[in-house]
Amino acid sequence: MSVLLLLNGCNQQGGDTIKIGEFASLTGKEATFGQSSHEGTLLAIEEINAAGGVLGRKLELLTEDTQSKSGEPATVVNKLISRDGVVGILGEVASSRSLEAAPICQQNKIPMVSPSSTNPKVTETGDYVFRVCFIDPFQGTVMANFATKTLKAKKVAVFTDVKSDYSKGLAKFFKEQFVKNGGQIGAELDFNGGDKDFKAQLTAIKATGPDGIFIPGYYTDAALIAIQAKQLGLNIPLLGGDGWESEKLTEIGKDAVEGHYFSTHYHPDVGSEVSKKFVEHYRKRWNGKNPDALAACGYDSALVLADAIKRAGATDGAKIREALAATRDFQAVTGNITINAQRDATKSAVILQVKDGKFKYLETVSP
Ligand code: PHE
Repeated sequence: MSVLLLLNGCNQQGGDTIKIGEFASLTGKEATFGQSSHEGTLLAIEEINAAGGVLGRKLELLTEDTQSKSGEPATVVNKLISRDGVVGILGEVASSRSLEAAPICQQNKIPMVSPSSTNPKVTETGDYVFRVCFIDPFQGTVMANFATKTLKAKKVAVFTDVKSDYSKGLAKFFKEQFVKNGGQIGAELDFNGGDKDFKAQLTAIKATGPDGIFIPGYYTDAALIAIQAKQLGLNIPLLGGDGWESEKLTEIGKDAVEGHYFSTHYHPDVGSEVSKKFVEHYRKRWNGKNPDALAACGYDSALVLADAIKRAGATDGAKIREALAATRDFQAVTGNITINAQRDATKSAVILQVKDGKFKYLETVSP
């Protein structure tokens, strides 16, 4: 009995490696999110280990697949904490799945760092929950201002995925700012993530004569919506947020997504020396693939957590939590990260346009 206890204690704290958990959508509807995020995260862990690790120990990344499904985050995060004894958790990309795992991390006092979940509620869960990205009140404002100022849109429709916390939040923040700008929301329609037929809603949207449609969804849905909008003769700009970012957007949407716009966290063409090095290393590690925002945010999440463990000088949750909260001006790939009182990072957004099947950088918007 006492031997078991000892071994158990050993697993939790004093082993050779420092165990870091990661939960990501490696398969399923949002597979490219999890894959990119994981590739960035793993690269960071490998680089940290190559440079000697943290506190004289190597980091060990334990990755679990959420399959892009609700229900899975709770299962895998419980497993990471109680079976594997991880000292911190990285994930998820999608806000709804981060929201599912956050209370479990909070309850177990295991710090969680989301690389790219942008819904404000994620970090409101509690003081053990952090993120290294901006939040949607900012992202919604960025796209509303872009619609008003750059596109000169007066009336837009908003088409929301009611199954997604991310989509509902971003729709709300966009609307608030667009109306503040003097614009009019001509139509508000809903869909359910995973739907295949959007024609009824798009027909209703078309009848209101909008100058553009804001679609705060994920890439598969956004691409199908763009195809059907084109079929219905809706030749107006479509706008989205970071959820559009996937090579699948153009693979599925082809010419129907050409010319449309979305905001996100990062573009490899712009950025600091840290970013340039990251692009080079990422391409080398992942067979010439270019990193997207998910990869960059994943990379940054691992760096920030490792830096906190180093400054904490220990691997217990409370100490790591405190060090995370004290993160100031950390030079990361997606920008300098300071964790604010809400445990979010205040950072710039970039606006991209789909051009010849690629994502073209247009501008950077600072908070
Ligand atoms: N921000 C999205 C969410 O909260 C996730 C996402 C981030 C998607 C970055 C693509 C790129 O659900």
